[in-house]
Amino acid sequence: MKQLFILFAAIILIVLQSCCNTDKAFIEDNVQFAEQQLNNAVNAIEKDGKFPRSIKKDRTVGFVGAYDWTSGFFPGSLWYLYELSGNEQWKQEAQRTTHWLEKIQHFTGNHDIGFMLSCSYGNGFRLTNNPDYQTILINGAESLSTRYDSITKVIRSWDFKGGTKDGHVWQYPVIIDNMMNLELLFLASDFSGNEKYRNIAIQHANTTIKNHFRDDFSTYHVVDYDTISGAIRGRYTHQGLSHESSWARGQAWGLYGYTMCARETGDASFLQQAEHIADYIMHHPNLPADKVPLWDYHAKDTTFYPTWIEKLPPLTEAWRDASAATITCAALFDLSQLSETKGADYYQFAERLLHNLSQHYRSTSNKYFVLEHSVGNLPSNSEVDVPINYADYYYLEALVKFKNLTSSK
Ligand code: GLY
Repeated sequence: MKQLFILFAAIILIVLQSCCNTDKAFIEDNVQFAEQQLNNAVNAIEKDGKFPRSIKKDRTVGFVGAYDWTSGFFPGSLWYLYELSGNEQWKQEAQRTTHWLEKIQHFTGNHDIGFMLSCSYGNGFRLTNNPDYQTILINGAESLSTRYDSITKVIRSWDFKGGTKDGHVWQYPVIIDNMMNLELLFLASDFSGNEKYRNIAIQHANTTIKNHFRDDFSTYHVVDYDTISGAIRGRYTHQGLSHESSWARGQAWGLYGYTMCARETGDASFLQQAEHIADYIMHHPNLPADKVPLWDYHAKDTTFYPTWIEKLPPLTEAWRDASAATITCAALFDLSQLSETKGADYYQFAERLLHNLSQHYRSTSNKYFVLEHSVGNLPSNSEVDVPINYADYYYLEALVKFKNLTSSK
């Protein structure tokens, strides 16, 4: 009997060991590939202050300056490479490119400062404890908080005059993406002890739960508020197929945003919201077998085609959005640790997705980005089926989370 038990224990140990080795090899292979691609990207930078964003139609790298909403993702990816590889070269490159964003700390022109600073300086602080980074993050949170309004009870996303393709002109547009910027506010309250930032984040998240979601927990892209009464003027899309369709990246931003709010506050209503959004994504009938969504969950569903269809590029291809998949993947690894009832399902889904992205979405047509097949803004015919820096950023974040979770098993 005792011998049988020893044999059984030995078999379990061998199986566990071989799983561990497989995970380790999987992570190492992907890190190596990412190092190769991002090394080429770093070498392609010709001018300080210019961040690789995507591949342009002429197949060259498209660069952006510090004020572009995607500017923080490239330094952030370099911080993740440093974390994944331990290689000091990545730390130096991450520091160098992060410092190019110092000048935006007082920028109040839109809500994106949360993305720009949390991904760059936020990761930088997490990995180095550099106190100067803390000051910049607090200043950034102060800038972001100037966009909060006590009547609408949300942070305004955009200032540019604009509206929808069917003629609605917005007054106070708030997009679901804005949930991502709240992380900067939580960080700043932790650093400064000033609860103002945290309170704004919580209020924004509560208002967004109330106003942004449909009964099935899919999210609208844009909610427009009346600046005098705070009432909702309408719910719309900007980057999705139509007002009532589900733009894939929007669902992913919502999932990530509420998972992060649940982690930061321990509030059960945020956790429940994240679980509902996760369930919407994971069980959507239009989700392809490899779990990488179409750019819009209704891209192939003609009943969702909008009145302005003639203004859209041809919808013959149902493009995937790998960026939505990477954001979902990173969020689900976190949610798997927060959700008592469904944690195992979320983990399994995220692990499968990470493998699928690594196997089928790695760049083959360019040497500067890790993944391809993302969609930036299809209705504007911009960045359709391209590599894009935020897909790489959240992919590397998912790899970090997967690595931490497998090594703690
Ligand atoms: N926040 C812009 C986007 O997701 O495209």
